[in-house]
Amino acid sequence: MSALVVVGAQWGDEGKGKVIDFLSQQADVVVRHQGGNNAGHTVVVNDQEFKLHLVPSGILYPNTWCVIANGVVIDPKVLLDELAYLQDRGVDIGRLRISSKAHVVMPYHARLDALNEERRGQQKIGTTLRGIGPAYMDKAARVGLRIGDLLHPEEFRDRLGDVLEEKNHVLTRAYGAQPFSFDQLYRTFVDYGSSLRPYVADTSLLINQAIDRGDKVLFEGAQGTMLDIDHGTYPFVTSSHPSSGGAAIGAGVGPTKIDRVVGVAKAYATRVGDGPFPTELQDALGEEIRERGHEYGTTTGRPRRVGWLDAVVLRYAVRINGLSGLALTRLDVLDGLDTLKIATAYRYQGHTLKEFPDTAWEFRDVEPLYETLAGWDSSIGSTRRREELPRQAQQYIERIESVVGVPVVLVSVGRERSHTIPLDDLF
Ligand code: IMP
Repeated sequence: MSALVVVGAQWGDEGKGKVIDFLSQQADVVVRHQGGNNAGHTVVVNDQEFKLHLVPSGILYPNTWCVIANGVVIDPKVLLDELAYLQDRGVDIGRLRISSKAHVVMPYHARLDALNEERRGQQKIGTTLRGIGPAYMDKAARVGLRIGDLLHPEEFRDRLGDVLEEKNHVLTRAYGAQPFSFDQLYRTFVDYGSSLRPYVADTSLLINQAIDRGDKVLFEGAQGTMLDIDHGTYPFVTSSHPSSGGAAIGAGVGPTKIDRVVGVAKAYATRVGDGPFPTELQDALGEEIRERGHEYGTTTGRPRRVGWLDAVVLRYAVRINGLSGLALTRLDVLDGLDTLKIATAYRYQGHTLKEFPDTAWEFRDVEPLYETLAGWDSSIGSTRRREELPRQAQQYIERIESVVGVPVVLVSVGRERSHTIPLDDLF
């Protein structure tokens, strides 16, 4: 198996960082292909915690090459700070390559993100305010600036001049906000370009060559299927394609080159930001799970909304992504609960829905239909084999497999790399 795509099967924050870190030990190349520094994951290696937003966590392995591909939107300051942080901690960053086609998140994108959210008021999306939506808007509107542009100061000057005129017009006229200074932006971003130059490459070529010679290539999705701009809970979504198809476009590889897709799902569910969440627990139990699971965003620190596992969402994730298995994370967070629930279907206007609804207003009004299972009273953090898990935990996993329709291929029972029960050879 050469090319493996790992995606979030829920609303992001499924613990992909941990799973990807675990799989990276076998990977020759790890590729980030969508999103930007709205994502964030924490990886714990030998008690040392690494918080990363843009650089694939594969960088923590000494021989793994890491790629930030064309589908990512890059805030160069965030990336350079992250590279300095890694270097300070002794990590070799010479194995990073960045696509010249990746779009740049400019300061006016973050400003417009905040102004748009403010204007939406009650209807706000609850974005991470990192400028991700406005950067992808510019990409689609064909007025985006790309990493490659920063390496050509003369052309960059013309492009920035043109774009900034329009941005400043919107900022000052539509929002009454302050304009950005051309000279300052120009100088700063040309400097960023010089700092990033050693890493910039034709990453589609590199990735395809790696696949063709049989290297193990891991595509690391950010966010989750339910935040996909086409297939998620629109408009409460991000502006990229976290589902598996995004890997092909976002990295410049044909879909036929991808061998396998695995979805990461928490053993329960969380969501940050606004939007419908049928299995949400707005009670003391939800609060308890949030505290036990430290369910606060890596990027924004916002408390995550918590709920029961939703198998309707997971079956939808299987369909949209072509998942062949699930990596189930944070099972240990459920230790000690008397009972557990899984939503296996929804009730909508007196009907039972087994499939994820096609429209936003149906999804907004569904009521989950639950199955209740017994919990376990021991602590499972030190378990390394499926058979050693308490019987009730094994039954919970089996039930998930049966209602979702794909096998669980990995179980995570803690934050460390070692807190992992691999059930299948994924590569
Ligand atoms: P944006 O990506 O900042 O535009 O935010 C759009 C929506 O996606 C908001 O609900 C965010 O909370 C959510 N979101 C973006 N990135 C992540 C992530 O990495 N994990 C979880 N939610 C995210």
